[in-house]
Amino acid sequence: MKLALLAEQAAGERRVAATPETVKKLIGLGADVAVEAGAGAGASIDDAAYAAAGAGIGTRAQTIADADILLGVAGPAPDSLAGVKQGAWLVAGLNPSGERARVDAYAALGIEALAMEWMPRITRAQSMDILSSQANLAGYKAVLDAAAEYGRAFPMMMTAAGTISAARVFVMGVGVAGLQAIATARRLGAQVSATDVRSATKEQIQSLGAKPVFVEKVAGIEGEGAGGYAGEMSAEYQAAQAELVSAHIAKQDIVITTALIPGRPAPRLVSDAQVASMRPGSVIVDLAVEQGGNVEGAVAGEVVVRHGVKIVGHRNVPSRLAADASALFARNLFNFLSAYWDKDAGRPVLPADDEVGEAIRLTRNGQVVNPRLAD
Ligand code: NAI
Repeated sequence: MKLALLAEQAAGERRVAATPETVKKLIGLGADVAVEAGAGAGASIDDAAYAAAGAGIGTRAQTIADADILLGVAGPAPDSLAGVKQGAWLVAGLNPSGERARVDAYAALGIEALAMEWMPRITRAQSMDILSSQANLAGYKAVLDAAAEYGRAFPMMMTAAGTISAARVFVMGVGVAGLQAIATARRLGAQVSATDVRSATKEQIQSLGAKPVFVEKVAGIEGEGAGGYAGEMSAEYQAAQAELVSAHIAKQDIVITTALIPGRPAPRLVSDAQVASMRPGSVIVDLAVEQGGNVEGAVAGEVVVRHGVKIVGHRNVPSRLAADASALFARNLFNFLSAYWDKDAGRPVLPADDEVGEAIRLTRNGQVVNPRLAD
């Protein structure tokens, strides 16, 4: 059983899907591991470290030749997989909705593409969930990026020259990234408030020492869609939310937005007029910028200034912490492979009726098989 670790090809992607630690563990399960030369460079892991863990190092063609399982952070370009074995698994974050043509190409190559971001949110799959592990780091980094762009300090400081007041930070969207953003901003000494459409988050916000800002007037809304994710809100709710947020946002120094709705563009939470209401020098970080953006005027890959307010739209924020992001991503993949490891087969096997397999499998036997891609 040969496992191949691919070097990432996308611009700005510094992460890697296996580390020497997980390579060693995979070899311990009985796999041979081949690593494409330079795969770990962006995460500060050199080829020698993989070799010391027991992996072979080679070119892309050598790495994928005869491989049974390919590991990646993002989906590789299909034309870089020439010569891949029929039936080989491709285990990576494949962005199935955004890269639909690639999914067809993977099917045509005869490989079984497994999209790790479609891991179901069930207890036993928590340790395999790349969205959570990466969002947590993104939430942390968003606060540091805001602090770096902000021309003032976060904590209150009482000095001989006078007092500096604490920065006011508002976190919009309190999922995995938002919770970590709240915790990080609190650690830096900011005064933190937060909002979400899921009422369950209210207690979580309070338990982190932040102030919940919630729409209370619109009855009957729990905001909870399938799988613990948010659903799309009614027009009435959106209007009430906009009013509440307008009053609040004008008094904030930093806004961090993280709101996503699975399978839909990110909800628009901050309008240009609301940006203009903030005082000059304020900073907004839009973590949803690549999914369409929560903030009007945010540009993916850029820091723009509108009405004197900086709007930060970094792409691929987890990659900005490539070493830690890779370590967690690699463990997610290892946890998946080891949970399904079949000793007799000497490789992981997904049982026919398994919830995880059905959720993440995109292609098989030359066909696109995932119902979410049916249309
Ligand atoms: P996400 O990345 O899909 O969305 C981020 C946040 O934005 C969510 O909290 C969502 O409710 C919020 N949001 C959406 N529309 C909004 C709007 N219009 N205004 C304000 N906020 C809005 O969500 P994420 O971070 O992936 O987590 C969602 C939930 O799933 C959390 O409760 C988390 O604890 C849970 N979860 C469960 C797992 C498991 O059981 N295996 C694994 C990971 C997360």
